Parts: sequence; C-alpha cells; structure tokens
Amino acid sequence: MSSSRRRRRRRSRRSRKERVRWIQHYNNGQKILLVGEGDFSFSACLATAFRSAVNMVATSLHSQELLRVKHWTSEAELQTLERLGCLILHEVDVYGMGYHPTLSRMKFDVVIFNFPHAGHFYGFCEGDEELIE
Ligand SMILES: C[S@@+](CC[C@H](N)C(=O)[O-])C[C@H]1O[C@@H](n2cnc3c(N)ncnc32)[C@H](O)[C@@H]1O
Repeated sequence: MSSSRRRRRRRSRRSRKERVRWIQHYNNGQKILLVGEGDFSFSACLATAFRSAVNMVATSLHSQELLRVKHWTSEAELQTLERLGCLILHEVDVYGMGYHPTLSRMKFDVVIFNFPHAGHFYGFCEGDEELIE
C-alpha cells in the first residue's frame, strides 16, 4: 500500500472516531449536566449512544445509599456511566447547585432535568393550577 493511501486511511479512521454524534437535541461535543436523575437510565442511555460520557455530569438528589434502596437498577447504570467516563454526583439539589463545590466551578452547554417532580403538597393534586407556573 502506498504511503499516501495509508495516510488517507489513517485520516479517515481519525475523523470517524471524532465524529459528532447527535441524539435528538444533544450531541457528544456538548458539556451536559443531568440533574434529578432517578435510576440514571437516561444518562446511561445517552452515554451509550455517544459511546462516551467524558462531557457529561450526571447527578441525583439522593445519597448513593438511598439510591440503592429506591432504584436498585441504578447500580448497572452507574457502572456503565463510570466506564464511559461520566462524573457522577450524589445529593445534588437543583435549588442549591449554584453553590455546589464541584458544579459551581463548571460551565455547561445543556442542563437536562427530565420529568421534574418535587413531591406532593398536602391537599393538592398534580393538575392543580396552584402548582403549575
Ligand atoms: C419523576 S422523577 C424523574 C426522574 C428522572 N429525571 C427521569 O426522567 O427518569 C423526579 C426526580 O426529581 C428528583 N428531584 C425532586 N426534587 C429535586 C430537587 N430539588 N433537586 C434535584 N432533584 C430533585 C427526584 O429525586 C426524582 O428522581
């Protein structure tokens, strides 16, 4: 094989590796912060589709111990995220994340909070206007 052909093949292999992967609104080049994750399945799914999570920070309101009790399936999802290089943070409350020691020093292109739900208020239903802004 000629050296120029070898060079071309190497270049095309490199560009394939660095290809931007889009999944709906998101791509693997964006710095993505996920808050209010439940069992971390969404984060793990996104990371798997991107084949990397080095640009992702996935967070949960719960401690790791409580997460294990509430969402036992999270263990496998967390393993996937760790393998793909995700930074995982527990006990992150969206109301105080501006003061979080790690998050406050970072910048993000996208913040994702899927199906936000902060619990029930006594006497109200989810559809009540007082709860919907
Ligand atoms: C309906 S679940 C959605 C979970 C996940 N985002 C998903 O799409 O599968 C609502 C989530 O919001 C989280 N949550 C509620 N209040 C929060 C807060 N103040 N800060 C961060 N997360 C919160 C809960 O822990 C819960 O996991």
